[in-house]
Amino acid sequence: TGGVTTIDPGYKNTGSCESAITFLDGEKGILRYRGYSIEELAEKADFLEVCYLLIFGNLPTATELEKFDKDIKEESHVDEDMKKILDGFPKSAHPMGVLSSLTSALIAFNPGSVDVDSEEEMYNAIVKILAKFPVLAAWTMRKRKSLPLDYGDSSLGYVENLHKMMFARPNKTYEANKIVNDALDKLLILHADHEQNCSTSTVRIVGSSHAGLFASLSAGISALWGPLHGGANQAVIEMLEAIKEDGGDTAKYINKAKDKEDSFRLMGFGHRVYKNFDPRAKIIKKSAEEVLGNLGIEDPVLDIAKGLSEVALKDEYFVQRKLYPNVDFYSGIIYRALGIPTEMFTVMFALGRLPGWIAQWREMRLRKEPIGRPRQIYIGENHRDFKEISER
Ligand code: SDX
Repeated sequence: TGGVTTIDPGYKNTGSCESAITFLDGEKGILRYRGYSIEELAEKADFLEVCYLLIFGNLPTATELEKFDKDIKEESHVDEDMKKILDGFPKSAHPMGVLSSLTSALIAFNPGSVDVDSEEEMYNAIVKILAKFPVLAAWTMRKRKSLPLDYGDSSLGYVENLHKMMFARPNKTYEANKIVNDALDKLLILHADHEQNCSTSTVRIVGSSHAGLFASLSAGISALWGPLHGGANQAVIEMLEAIKEDGGDTAKYINKAKDKEDSFRLMGFGHRVYKNFDPRAKIIKKSAEEVLGNLGIEDPVLDIAKGLSEVALKDEYFVQRKLYPNVDFYSGIIYRALGIPTEMFTVMFALGRLPGWIAQWREMRLRKEPIGRPRQIYIGENHRDFKEISER
């Protein structure tokens, strides 16, 4: 048989590890990072604090946070030759594919980041990628617009610097906007970790072969790209836009999903763990209304999203299957209001999830987890003898 008697497609009922990082209760809609509720962290913490919390286990003291920030800032340069790799891509390349490639390419310029065994070597690799990842992410956006590439401004905070790298324009004064940066900071916190989801499991299994942190993250980015996972935030906006073009006919799309027409799904709906509501979706929905209000933006797509959700939540098909808006349903509406292009939405998800992936990789390595290698049930051919081509 191949060694096992039962299999568990999609690992719906399989636990892969013990972890002390993130706690989810799918029935009660609870999400905690190292014991702190997501609601409190989204309100009171900033993203760099949450990075420290997830990776090292506690909220940092002022001194710890200052050193963390300083160590990251010292690593914000990216080897100039990396630009030659970026140059090789067509402008039309999807930013997630570029980001995954650049993250893997970074290994060649940081060979010491691969075979890390000691906590100190891990720390050095971690601050390197926390510093360089936002630079690479910003580069993927600027490449599409043929804009100059820079390494950011170390006088700014982590999220402000990310925003400036994405949006600063030559010969134009860059104006930081507190509403925008606060919204970005909150979104990154809400995406920071989510226990053993598809991309995190990918980071863990690649890391379990000791391929190194950057290679594991590059694999995680590719997993996150899929429309069933992080790629859903881009697919949601494309779906809402299609509904808008279709005269706002939400019923048509609800029915398409119910009839599973061309295996169409309501993007941004449903979750493997949350069966009553996704606590992040609640916070993001409220934040979307606040941000658009504060920025004075009227986006018809928000009304379509709310209308679609109201109808679906009362429809037997969705109720019976416990399908609710997830983290991706409203996030794109805020990204859009912040001027972020649709193709960059999943890169924003990756920027948020970076500390979670790092924390989970570090925990897996420190706990000396064995290499991931599941078994199977063999359903192929029995033994047969080779046939010369003349006999086939
Ligand atoms: C993320 O795991 C994580 O924590 C992920 C994440 C994170 O933070 O890392 O939370 C981020 O990936 C959120 C999910 C983003 N994906 C989408 O919004 C895409 C649309 N959603 C689905 O494809 C689906 O709901 C999943 C992938 C999220 C969950 O899939 P499951 O648990 O494997 O459920 P399933 O595919 O077995 O569906 C069960 C039933 C099926 O119908 P029946 O066969 O019972 O008739 O529900 C139906 C599905 O067809 N269904 C949907 C649906 N989602 C599930 N039908 C219509 N629209 C949907 N969105």
